[in-house]
Amino acid sequence: MASITAATKKLPWWVGPITVTVVLTAFGIYSLVVALFFQDAQYQDYLLSPFFSPQISSPYAWLSPAVFVLWIPLGFRATCYYYRKAYYRAFFWDPPACESRAQQREPRSPENYNGERALFVLNNIHRYFLYGSIVVVAFLWYEAVVSFFPGGGFGITVGTLVLLTNVVLLSLYTFSCHSFRHLVGGNKNCYSCVSGGDARRKTFNAVSKLNIRHSLWAWLSLFAVLFADVYIRMLLAGWFMDPTIL
Ligand code: FES
Repeated sequence: MASITAATKKLPWWVGPITVTVVLTAFGIYSLVVALFFQDAQYQDYLLSPFFSPQISSPYAWLSPAVFVLWIPLGFRATCYYYRKAYYRAFFWDPPACESRAQQREPRSPENYNGERALFVLNNIHRYFLYGSIVVVAFLWYEAVVSFFPGGGFGITVGTLVLLTNVVLLSLYTFSCHSFRHLVGGNKNCYSCVSGGDARRKTFNAVSKLNIRHSLWAWLSLFAVLFADVYIRMLLAGWFMDPTIL
């Protein structure tokens, strides 16, 4: 991790913002296309695309059920403290990088900074997206367990590992969230003064350890969920069968 950080510091300062712009734009477009134009997300009886979990029936044949689900994880990511830093730099160049790296290239004077205003006030509802995302992650764990039973009996396929990897990384991302850290113990000044204080302190410390790598979980889980949907879409298109491992 330290070597990755050291290596990225040697790159020109604009590489980071441009990479984030490209990746987030591509992910946003892909999600939109899936949500608007795809109805089918279940391969046989055991693999469900994470974009469609929990499984909901759409009231209209022309409307994808993903529309009723995707707003939760997308809202969670859009209001995430880490992604906010990343996309403010990438899309708005405000600032484009830290001062030493961007060498004062910020288009607006820092003295004129007024905080997150107008539409960005909605970022304050991040904690509510967290609650919704915890529910979604619970359904994804259920789908991961279902994937261990292809055709009704126990078995492991590549698809099983894809869904399992996805839900593990999404859990690491969700439970390393700054709002979750605050929820479990960050809102207390004195643990010995509250009931269950010791358990809260231990939970807070555990979440704090996860939280150090929050940006890593953010990117890995983004690629995992994207790969899981692409993999299931390739199976549905009949490009190949899901290989059995066990
Ligand atoms: S701060 Fe990133 S998900 Fe909450």
